[in-house]
Amino acid sequence: MKKFISCHDASDFQSLIAKALEYKNNPLKDATQGKGKRMGLLFLNPSMRTRLSTEIAAKNLGMDVIVFNVGQDGWALEFEDEAIMSGSTVEHVKEAAPILGKYFDILGIRTFPSLKNKEDDYSELYINQFVKYAGVPIVSLESATLHPLQSLTDLITIQETFKEKRRPKIVLTWAPHVKALPQCVANSFSQWVNAWSGADFTIAHPEDYELDTKFTKGATITHHQDEALKNADFVYVKNWSTFTDYGKIYTNDPEWMLTKEKLELTNKAKVMHCLPVRRNVELSDEVLDSAASFVTLQASNRVWAAQSVLSEILIGLGH
Ligand code: CP
Repeated sequence: MKKFISCHDASDFQSLIAKALEYKNNPLKDATQGKGKRMGLLFLNPSMRTRLSTEIAAKNLGMDVIVFNVGQDGWALEFEDEAIMSGSTVEHVKEAAPILGKYFDILGIRTFPSLKNKEDDYSELYINQFVKYAGVPIVSLESATLHPLQSLTDLITIQETFKEKRRPKIVLTWAPHVKALPQCVANSFSQWVNAWSGADFTIAHPEDYELDTKFTKGATITHHQDEALKNADFVYVKNWSTFTDYGKIYTNDPEWMLTKEKLELTNKAKVMHCLPVRRNVELSDEVLDSAASFVTLQASNRVWAAQSVLSEILIGLGH
């Protein structure tokens, strides 16, 4: 694997999932694979799970890891080509990325969208500039439109727990939130579940919360959450801001919060969320504190997803 910024970089994600589950059983089975290699984890935005799970994964493979909070500790980076840097940005990615590529063998990067300009965000300028100029494999730690390590984890979690000999029904449901959030997790989950094609997949959201069809094509889309929840085996709860009229909050209707009563419509569904979650806004206490909640299992699986991807990147580097 040469980079990991979307599901298209995983030529065979069933084998990535199988490898992740092997690491879950035996975390140190490839403890020397990354010996002598160094990974840089660059954060332009906050993180808990991605930062820690990727560091643990890299260390399980024997790599050295340095975390750099670029957004907090580094110079403000410029990403636009031909920018006249007379404003707040101090260093261009054309200088920064190749230098970081000399310091590190693999770079992980987290960059959130602005939610102000759809074209800019959906061009994935930031991560693509790193791909273009760093000269080393780039791993997305969540980008403007996608969160592939999260989605791989989500499929691992679904596949390791669903033991019935039929296709699971998976529902991605929009939830209320107090802030305008990116579409990344919802886009990415849709992209991966559709690419897997091993599930019946429904997306439920209020009117005007349509996601980009390039990610959702193949899913059943409805504005009726109760209808969608019927017979669901997995319910993935996530807020996102509007895509068409970009980055807006049109509603905060609390009726869309997943509650115990709503879960009763499902086939004893397991509840998923990428975290962090706003309790009693997105998901009720009683759901999060119940046995139906898979959120801790999901977050713990982040280590094995990252380890599987990093191992494939190391193979790509000849290790
Ligand atoms: N789910 C996720 O990416 O969590 P963090 O933002 O804490 O990394």
